[in-house]
Amino acid sequence: MTDLPEHVRHNRAYWDQKAREYVASGERHWRAESPSWGIWNVPESEIGMFPEDLAGRDSIELGCGTAYVSAWLARGGANVVGIDNSEAQLETARRLQREHGIDFPLIHGNAENVPYPDGSFDFAISEYGACLWADPRRWVPEASRLLRPGGRLAFLTNAFLLMLCMPDDETEAAANRLLRPAFGMHRIAWPGDSGVEFHISHGDWIRLLRRSGFEIEELVEVRPPDGATTRHPFVTSEWATQWPSEEVWKVRKRQRG
Ligand SMILES: C[S@@+](CC[C@H](N)C(=O)[O-])C[C@H]1O[C@@H](n2cnc3c(N)ncnc32)[C@H](O)[C@@H]1O
Repeated sequence: MTDLPEHVRHNRAYWDQKAREYVASGERHWRAESPSWGIWNVPESEIGMFPEDLAGRDSIELGCGTAYVSAWLARGGANVVGIDNSEAQLETARRLQREHGIDFPLIHGNAENVPYPDGSFDFAISEYGACLWADPRRWVPEASRLLRPGGRLAFLTNAFLLMLCMPDDETEAAANRLLRPAFGMHRIAWPGDSGVEFHISHGDWIRLLRRSGFEIEELVEVRPPDGATTRHPFVTSEWATQWPSEEVWKVRKRQRG
């Protein structure tokens, strides 16, 4: 515990205490017949987070929380492992595994330093997990190390534009104007009782992903389906139907270096 980076220690305590607020949504997502993503529940058919041929793919979910994404992968025939920094989140995940009769390894740990050998996986995924709460300068090279050449990484997080429009009080919704500088954005700790998040510009994502051995295949700017609502206070559907509130990066590890 003491050798964990400060933001990982802080986020462990934060998510252990926050876990109970994620039980109901975990249960709902585990019950779902087909995957849907992010705060607007956009169907998989519109976003394509998963590779088409899941069967037999060695996969890892980085920051799995209640592990419903891992459960969807397992149902699709993938060999999946979930890693999460919060034991309390993993407790919910383990209970839901038992209730649904789906078993896969769940590791309590930091996605910036995963206890698996190089080239163990074909696919890595994160939905508001490590891609938001871990330092991209650490978790992106780590995801690359874990993947085999040609392996894929897909992650969904808050759109950079949304972050530029966020007031300091994260219980308030995004404004229709720029409220914080783009240059230098990286670590954000909201005032009050909050976790430590990481947000970087598109230029910084592209540089980091390429330097870590990835080719970028697609950047999806997520649009909520008609009439979609969210329980999260930080953005309204009026805002999100005009500008991207979430983004999905799909990248593939180069065959060589
Ligand atoms: C919002 S949940 C993501 C799970 C799920 N997809 C969801 O949207 O509810 C965020 C999760 O990221 C985990 N997390 C935060 N930092 C992490 C890290 N460094 N390594 C692994 N997991 C981490 C938290 O413990 C938490 O369970």
